[in-house]
Amino acid sequence: MHPLISKDSKWVLQEDGTSKETIVQNETLFALSNGHFGTRGSLEETSRTPDYSYSESTLVNAFYDSEPIEYGEWAYGYAKNHQTIIPVPNGKKLTLTLDGETFDLETGSTTDHKRMLDLEKAVLTRTFTWTNTQDKSVDVKIERFVSYDYPELLVQKVWVTPHEDGSELELTAELDDLKEMGQTKGHQDSHDPRKKVLKERRFDSTDLESEEHTLMHITPHSTDLNLIVGATNALSDASAAYHRDGNTETWKVETRKSQTVSLERWVAYGFIFTDESEKEEQSRQVDDLLSKVKEEGYDSVKEKHLDYMKTFWSTSDIQIDGDDTLQTGLRFNLFHLHQAAGRDGLTNMSAKGLTGEGYEGHYFWDTEMYMLPFFIYTQPEIAKQLLRYRYSILPQARERAREMAIDNGALFAWRTINGEEASPYYPAGTAQIHINADIAHAVHTYLQATDDTEFGMNEGLEILIETARFYETYGHYDELRDGAFVLNEVTGPDEYTAIVNNNFYTNLLAKHNLNYAIEWVEKALDEKNEDGQAVLEKVAFEKAELDAWKKAADKMFLPYDEKQQLTMQDDSFFHKKVWDFDNTPEENYPLLLNYHPLTIYGHQVNKQADTVLAQFLFSTEFSQEQKERDYNYYEAITTHDSSLSRSVFGMMASDIGDLEKAYDYFMDTALMDITNMQGNTNDGVHTANMGGTWMSIVYGFGGLRMANGTLHFSPKLPKQWNKLSFTIQFKGRTLQVTIKPEGSEYTLLEGEPLEINHFGEKKVIQ
Ligand code: BGC
Repeated sequence: MHPLISKDSKWVLQEDGTSKETIVQNETLFALSNGHFGTRGSLEETSRTPDYSYSESTLVNAFYDSEPIEYGEWAYGYAKNHQTIIPVPNGKKLTLTLDGETFDLETGSTTDHKRMLDLEKAVLTRTFTWTNTQDKSVDVKIERFVSYDYPELLVQKVWVTPHEDGSELELTAELDDLKEMGQTKGHQDSHDPRKKVLKERRFDSTDLESEEHTLMHITPHSTDLNLIVGATNALSDASAAYHRDGNTETWKVETRKSQTVSLERWVAYGFIFTDESEKEEQSRQVDDLLSKVKEEGYDSVKEKHLDYMKTFWSTSDIQIDGDDTLQTGLRFNLFHLHQAAGRDGLTNMSAKGLTGEGYEGHYFWDTEMYMLPFFIYTQPEIAKQLLRYRYSILPQARERAREMAIDNGALFAWRTINGEEASPYYPAGTAQIHINADIAHAVHTYLQATDDTEFGMNEGLEILIETARFYETYGHYDELRDGAFVLNEVTGPDEYTAIVNNNFYTNLLAKHNLNYAIEWVEKALDEKNEDGQAVLEKVAFEKAELDAWKKAADKMFLPYDEKQQLTMQDDSFFHKKVWDFDNTPEENYPLLLNYHPLTIYGHQVNKQADTVLAQFLFSTEFSQEQKERDYNYYEAITTHDSSLSRSVFGMMASDIGDLEKAYDYFMDTALMDITNMQGNTNDGVHTANMGGTWMSIVYGFGGLRMANGTLHFSPKLPKQWNKLSFTIQFKGRTLQVTIKPEGSEYTLLEGEPLEINHFGEKKVIQ
């Protein structure tokens, strides 16, 4: 059993002791967030002992700074600016002093040091006993949670119980404005392109007036974003001597043996605003919120938080009988997935959630292809908000298409926060035009699973049209290929192959994108639907477009090698040499850190699932034999250097009936961050892989596929488990699926009877 997995509970990750390495390692895993902001699991006293931390950052979703991307050699249309999420003031900082000596893990002695992340409650608890060098001791307990009911709010409470009478206990709470940022490891130099190193703080701050609270206005150096951050505290002992100095509040009390002193601390990270004239109003809101929650009290706010979490787990938990480590590991993934999603329609989910600065807080295709399925089938409201974010950046996507000389439709940025392309490396950035079809596919899946025609006839329709238009204009009919429709100079999901013609994944998804647009435009035309008509008018839709899309979809070129009977990843793939895996030492992985891109691009080697992912998504379009052949071929040349790979291979292993392999991939997937399998969990959790974990259960072992608006299941249970059970939301129903060695059960927990398909057979569940 992994040392973090608690033996007593299947809901708890528990760290024991004071090992520096372990504490640093767990900082990412113990991060708490609610989609609006997140804070890493760093210790309260990190500024005194920075070696116990990698980066203590608190990140507000989409609060970024920008600077021009400097190219050695520039070319037209290159992405112009970096967008880098920036750490905001640290509200976790607490200092405890006993008879003039300040607590940290290197002073005096600390015993029984434990940190527990309770996944069920979303509360991080730390307990220990500290004895200072004068032999005076205190028991300390600290709780921390990030509220869902008040998305701005970080809540902390510390309880200090002295062992002796008559000492002087001093508690200090500070809203640290990061003037000394840069001392922890995460801010040291690196050549890893997956990191962006910020050694200095990247905002200006001004203290604001407030009668009772600390309030600060911050604005990044180079963007017009603004944020109000505030803090307030309440000490249990009213007789304490109190002192305030700017952002720092201090209380001093004389200890009484076994008499606990507690401090409740509230920190608010307001909502982002761009118009500075709103500053007063926004600071009033933060000020009011702090007064309100302080008055409401810790217990009541915590109670609400626990209720919220209960509701979340009631629709989202997955239960596995037969492996306790895995059970906790799985819940850990669902916990992080849930806490990563922006919920306001203006923000999304970054590749690391809000648990670290890796990938600069950018949103990728990861959201649509890996994370959204979880939300679509467990919290469709959040799925819709994530899609609404894409709708909100459609204007930037249209502009980007024009910049790429495509005069019709829209091209979404490969990586972005504000909608503009932020990838400085176009071969693995802008060239991934499959992002459009990924988004369209997610929209279509959401619509099928929810019947949310309101979204479909408005935002959804517009996204489907604009993405389809892009492909139809980008591609052309190639006479040398008998007039097939081709998409040239693209990069598919596999980033170890770049700028190729006819990437199979891209072409197949683009074909579906065109068909989705046709389906929804026809609905808009047929039903004389007012919303739909308004969208068609808004985007100046012309009927001739339908024919053009149909033709392109029908004639879409899908590369296939008749001789080997294999699907080709792209036109040139099989003409390349296979990578020399036998002579590649272990330490040369990931290849991207050890070989020039051209060396990698010149070979048959995959960073991640590409063709196999396409076949997984549209598995009913391929014969079992075809899928098996392709699987075996591509598996042998895949490094899984991307964390987005293993889950897909696992699901396809289930699909082709290799349950042993499916299980092995699944175990790697489910425990990836807990075991630091990719070696870079310090930079944040691998959120897409976490979505992949959910998919591995539901799509993989549950065998869920959706066809024509109906759920199809083909459940299989690995022999290592006694039972697997999960719940999904579908068109207003809550359906529980339980898989046992002797068969599967479907239970309708809520809603109207539902027709499903079980191994090809119709069943009505009521
Ligand atoms: C993968 C991409 C992914 C990105 C962010 C890269 O390593 O190759 O597919 O979008 O990470 O997770």
